[in-house]
Amino acid sequence: MSKFSIRSIKGTQDILPDQSSQWQSLEEAIRNFMGHYGYQEIRTPTFEQTDLFIRSMGKETDIVSKEMYSWTDQGGENLTLKPELTAPVARAYIQHNLGGKSPLNKLYYIDTLFRRERPQKGRYRQFNQFGIEAFGSEYPEIDAEVITLAISIFNKMGIKELKLKLNSIGSPQCRIDYRETILDFLKPHIADLSEISQTRFENNPMRILDTKVPHEIEILKNLPNIADCWTNEDKDHFEEVCSLLDSTGIKYELTPRLVRGLDYYTKTTFEITSSALGAQDAICGGGRYDGLVESLGGKPTPGIGFAAGMERILLAMNNVESTSNSKQVYIVGLGNAVRPTVLKLAEELRQSSITTEFDVLRRSIKAQLREANKSGAKYAILIGDQELEARQAELKDLSTGDQKKIELNNLVEHIISLPF
Ligand code: HAM
Repeated sequence: MSKFSIRSIKGTQDILPDQSSQWQSLEEAIRNFMGHYGYQEIRTPTFEQTDLFIRSMGKETDIVSKEMYSWTDQGGENLTLKPELTAPVARAYIQHNLGGKSPLNKLYYIDTLFRRERPQKGRYRQFNQFGIEAFGSEYPEIDAEVITLAISIFNKMGIKELKLKLNSIGSPQCRIDYRETILDFLKPHIADLSEISQTRFENNPMRILDTKVPHEIEILKNLPNIADCWTNEDKDHFEEVCSLLDSTGIKYELTPRLVRGLDYYTKTTFEITSSALGAQDAICGGGRYDGLVESLGGKPTPGIGFAAGMERILLAMNNVESTSNSKQVYIVGLGNAVRPTVLKLAEELRQSSITTEFDVLRRSIKAQLREANKSGAKYAILIGDQELEARQAELKDLSTGDQKKIELNNLVEHIISLPF
């Protein structure tokens, strides 16, 4: 027999049954939360035209230039597994004229994404995000709502040591001006820059601000802030966002170097980190993208959103409450004759929302009882030939060991009335 040698792809993970209840709890918590804020779910396809991502995020970004899983299909179309969701959601918003149906669209998603990054703890090639995108309001109230939602949901999840980093990268003109500022400032230092930063100097100078190289951080210390390029409107907008956040008591750190990697951002940008995570400490990132819808062929529409990495959330949460149903019964059956009764009883209990399992490996009573205890069941029902003849079953409380006889006819009703 050949040895099993096919493994999952590097940077992807299987979620096994002992972890899936954590994922279910997290997804349920997100859905409940979104309902309270009036966000509705949107689901988009797993792959899109490659052009969508190039046009929205920008050719020179890390994601587009080296991390996308792209291919040409049999029909010659250039396709890409989605590496982020803001662009697909904006595409769907335009395609289905959501803006024509309602002046404000508040959308959320829980989805799987693909980026060919170097895998490490908290960074994967296939990962999951939840996020929101709000289309239609240019006003600071929505910025404040989006940021408040992010902080509140992470607080509710019990994630410790949260830090909200906040900045504004201003209008598109401000970005163009700041690009020139960075180029002028760094020109005398080019020879001292790392190879990556030298390439970014040519292609996408704003990205140099994300550097982790100590001597580059030192050089950048004297770089003027982007605030110097803000228009009056950029400044007013940002000040109002800050004062709205102040009124909710949410603490933030003004982070002038926070420009974020993607080209579609305008004005407010933010990131939330947790030191409960390791090197990959960003739980979520987001910001405004007032030009995105128009750049994809839609009517000019302001927008803002964020997305959060769900693997990172689970890493940062020490303990997620499990949704596993504690109303559990295990039916221990012995002998051929009882099988139809066991199956029927299990079905009746399940119809009454009681999680019920029974033995399908034809094991001994002892082995079945061992399995019942292992399953976490609170009660076991024991039925053998004798019990069947007497139309009775033994009901055993597995935590106390107490056992009593119950008429088969009353069994389901009796179990429903028990404390679990
Ligand atoms: P992003 O900063 O690229 O933004 O990703 C958001 C979050 O996704 C990160 O903060 C991180 O928690 C998680 N994440 C990113 N890459 C990985 C990875 N390789 N493995 C595990 N987790 C990862 C966006 O995606 C924007 N679309 C966010 C947005 C929405 N902006 C406006 N609306």
